[in-house]
Amino acid sequence: MNATLETSVDTDRFRADVLRGLARPQKRLPSKYFYDAVGSKLFDRICELDEYYPTRTELGILRTHAPEMAERCGPRCLLIELGAGSLTKVRLLLDRLDRPAGFVPVDVSGEHLESAADELRGEYRRLDVHPVCADFTADFAVPARACHRRVVYFPGSTLGNFEPAEADDLLRNVARLVGPGGGLLLGVDLRKDRRVLEAAYDDSLGVTAAFNRNLLARIDRELDADFDPDSFRHRAFYNAAQSRIGCTS
Ligand SMILES: C[S@@+](CC[C@H](N)C(=O)[O-])C[C@H]1O[C@@H](n2cnc3c(N)ncnc32)[C@H](O)[C@@H]1O
Repeated sequence: MNATLETSVDTDRFRADVLRGLARPQKRLPSKYFYDAVGSKLFDRICELDEYYPTRTELGILRTHAPEMAERCGPRCLLIELGAGSLTKVRLLLDRLDRPAGFVPVDVSGEHLESAADELRGEYRRLDVHPVCADFTADFAVPARACHRRVVYFPGSTLGNFEPAEADDLLRNVARLVGPGGGLLLGVDLRKDRRVLEAAYDDSLGVTAAFNRNLLARIDRELDADFDPDSFRHRAFYNAAQSRIGCTS
């Protein structure tokens, strides 16, 4: 594997973000740091949990509506997936696209992205798959491909990880990335019963708790800190005023 693909996280930047985030009265860390190789594997396990309904729901929507979605994307589109993860959902869309000009999965978790892209290439031999390991909140280059239009696919409610002003910036970047006539296919969750939401982010097997604690372990591993992740308790709560889930450890 190409070493530059391992992670798009710069250690100095990581350290600065951790110091800034943990110095705040209400401590906060950018969600991208959850996803190192360990975090990405834990997220895949979360997607299979009974309580974590979003993945099943989105897969169900795709099974029913992928033909309409593909029609809206149009022929010869260049599909760019932000926060691509394990590339599970996009297969249902790719199966329906009309002669796609290429597929560009973008993710900050480089090792995971490379292995998911390799697997996809094996299954979709005629598809030009070009993974980009990058932080999608910053500038990144998309390979030039002759295409009818660019379409960004952004599923998994990943947009919900951002504060409203950050989400606004991100959507403006997407508009620039796809250009005039480009498209965005966005998957976001809706408000629902607090108990359903909180269970989804605090499952009975403790996988989400392990996912959260891995961020502390990652700070220990990469920044030589001395957190004891096991001494932290995971708590997920629904903030109804903001319609968002918050997690503390
Ligand atoms: C909630 S998961 C969704 C994964 C997949 N798209 C899905 O729908 O199941 C978020 C994904 O976005 C990636 N990610 C999070 N923040 C990112 C950032 N700032 N830049 C690039 N990738 C990011 C993570 O590595 C992870 O794969």
